[in-house]
Amino acid sequence: MKRKIVACVCLIAFVIGCSWIADLLSVPVQGSPEVKARKDRDIPPTKKKQLLRWLKAGNYRGTYSAESGVHESTGPHGGNVRTYYNSVLVGDLNDGKTIFSKGAAMVKELYFDGKEEVIGYAVMIKVRKNSGNSGQGWLFYESFDGTNKDAIFGRGLSECADCHSAGVDFLRSSFRP
Ligand code: HEC
Repeated sequence: MKRKIVACVCLIAFVIGCSWIADLLSVPVQGSPEVKARKDRDIPPTKKKQLLRWLKAGNYRGTYSAESGVHESTGPHGGNVRTYYNSVLVGDLNDGKTIFSKGAAMVKELYFDGKEEVIGYAVMIKVRKNSGNSGQGWLFYESFDGTNKDAIFGRGLSECADCHSAGVDFLRSSFRP
C-alpha cells in the first residue's frame, strides 16, 4: 500500500514537472522564428497595393489593441473613427518611450457618418529608427473610400506630418492601451 502511494506521488510529481518544462519550452525566445513571424504579421505591408489588401483582410482586428469603440475624430479624419495600435507601439508606450521603434504602426478605421461599416483607412508605420523633424521616418497612408484610386501614400508626407508633428513622435491620438 505504502509503495503504491509513493509511486502515485512520484507519478503526479513527474507529470507536473513535465508540464512545467513544456511551458518553459513553449515561451518564444526573443528573435526566434516565432517572434519574427508574429512581428511580420503585426507590421502592415509598406507597399500601397499590399497594404490595402492587408487592411481589407482585417486580421489586425484580431491582433492589434483597439480603442473601445467607434467615436468622432478630433482630427480631419472621416467623421467617426476607431484606432488600433500594433504590439510594437503598445510595447513602446508601456515602456514610456516617446520615440517609437521601427515597426510601430497604427490603423485608423474611417466610418464617416455611420458606426458599423468601415469605409476608409488611415495608417502610419514607423519605417526608420529616426523620425526626422518632418516625419521622414513615418510612412503615411489614407484612403477615404477603401480603394487606392485617390489614396494618399508616402513617407514623411507634409500633408500628414505637419499636423501630426504636434503629437508624441507623430502620434496624435490620446488612446493608451
Ligand atoms: C489637421 C491635423 C491632421 C492632419 C492633416 C492629419 N491628421 Fe491624422 N490625426 C489627427 C488627430 C488630431 C488624430 C487623433 C484624433 C483622432 O482622430 O482620433 C489623428 C489620428 C491619426 C491616426 C491614428 C494614430 C494617431 O496618430 O493618433 C492615423 C493613422 C492618422 N491620423 C493618419 C493620418 C494620415 C495618413 C494623414 C495624411 C493623409 C493625416 N493623419 C493627416 C490630425 C491630423
